[in-house]
Amino acid sequence: MKHIAILGFGVVGQGVADLLTKNAKEVKALIGDDVNIKYILDLRDFPDSPFADRVVHDFNVIKADDGVDAVIEVMGGSHPAFEFSMDALRGKKHVITSNKQVVAEFGAEMLAEAKKNGVCYHFEASVGGGIPVLMPIIEILRHNKVREVRGILNGTTNYILTKMFTFGDTFEDSLKDAQAKGYAERNPDADILGIDACRKIAILGGLISGVSVMPDLIHTEGITAIRAEDVALANQNACAIKLLGRAITEADGRIMLMVAPFLIDADAPLSGVNGVYNAVEVIADPVDNVMFYGRGAGAGPTASAVVGDLCRCFTEATHTAPFAFEKKSEMLADFSAFTCRHYVATSACLCEVKKAFGEVTVLSEGKELAFLTGEMTEKAFADAAATLGDKVLSHIRKLA
Ligand code: HSE
Repeated sequence: MKHIAILGFGVVGQGVADLLTKNAKEVKALIGDDVNIKYILDLRDFPDSPFADRVVHDFNVIKADDGVDAVIEVMGGSHPAFEFSMDALRGKKHVITSNKQVVAEFGAEMLAEAKKNGVCYHFEASVGGGIPVLMPIIEILRHNKVREVRGILNGTTNYILTKMFTFGDTFEDSLKDAQAKGYAERNPDADILGIDACRKIAILGGLISGVSVMPDLIHTEGITAIRAEDVALANQNACAIKLLGRAITEADGRIMLMVAPFLIDADAPLSGVNGVYNAVEVIADPVDNVMFYGRGAGAGPTASAVVGDLCRCFTEATHTAPFAFEKKSEMLADFSAFTCRHYVATSACLCEVKKAFGEVTVLSEGKELAFLTGEMTEKAFADAAATLGDKVLSHIRKLA
């Protein structure tokens, strides 16, 4: 019998308990043993739950029990998730998590502690929810040189952008709709400001480079400044606007990381990813382009990834992770050198624009002038845009 503890009995924790119950026979067939949910840690009681008798309120009960083989941390936030997970690993308990924040900030420490203790620290559900993306990148694509991993990593913002694109709605109205449907939280900042996507690109960047960069060092923009006018113009020019996380391997071995909205040509695979769906595109040699697509959140998809990870803890011959994150912020490439084309909407006239940016491609002229610059570094763009001051009404980068 394998004994496990679930830390946090919210939507995901309950989804994990339900899936383990429903698939008990299949799990036993796979790992050769029954799985018993011995403890559920939560501040609340769940008198109506079939797991009511497993609920404890003190993590020390779980920490002290050497019979617990694995801990599933689905509580969210950095603290005390980090401390509880480290204690579990030190106690030679496998740890599985869906918590992107704690992985992005402390994945390096956690993987090192797991290795020291001969146990697993698995976090497939932390990026892309139910989409199997981390293990395929680590295991199946390991013989490739990954040039870039980029993706739509946040379902809430993708829902909002899809709504703006399909119905011409404003950002504010689309956000309200996302909240009414339960996709966006009452406080939606982590999603709409790009913070959630930033944590996920930090994890993906760590996987392809082995380098862990604290999320607060990563250039991060959300979608709050995108106007209905920008979306309409993108549509007219056969483009979508998507919030992308990008991790690019630089020639000198450093890693360029960012989260920002991008204009994407309609024939690019990521442009067709709509609603709450997530997608991760890997561009690597020799495999070329690979795309993973699916649901990035929700009880079922997240439980699918967590239970998959749990079973791997009990079936893997060795518990040595095939990678490690090394905390090395100096390996983060300088964002001011990032180069792309830029979409700009402005109240300036074309001669002012040409003076600032040189030759541009005009997309529309009317009440506002909208144009695409040539390839420019972030620094060159910022300097040119500064000469137009508050006449710059909107700015979105373009995916090449
Ligand atoms: N708030 C996140 C999203 C949930 O909308 O994608 C999964 O991290």
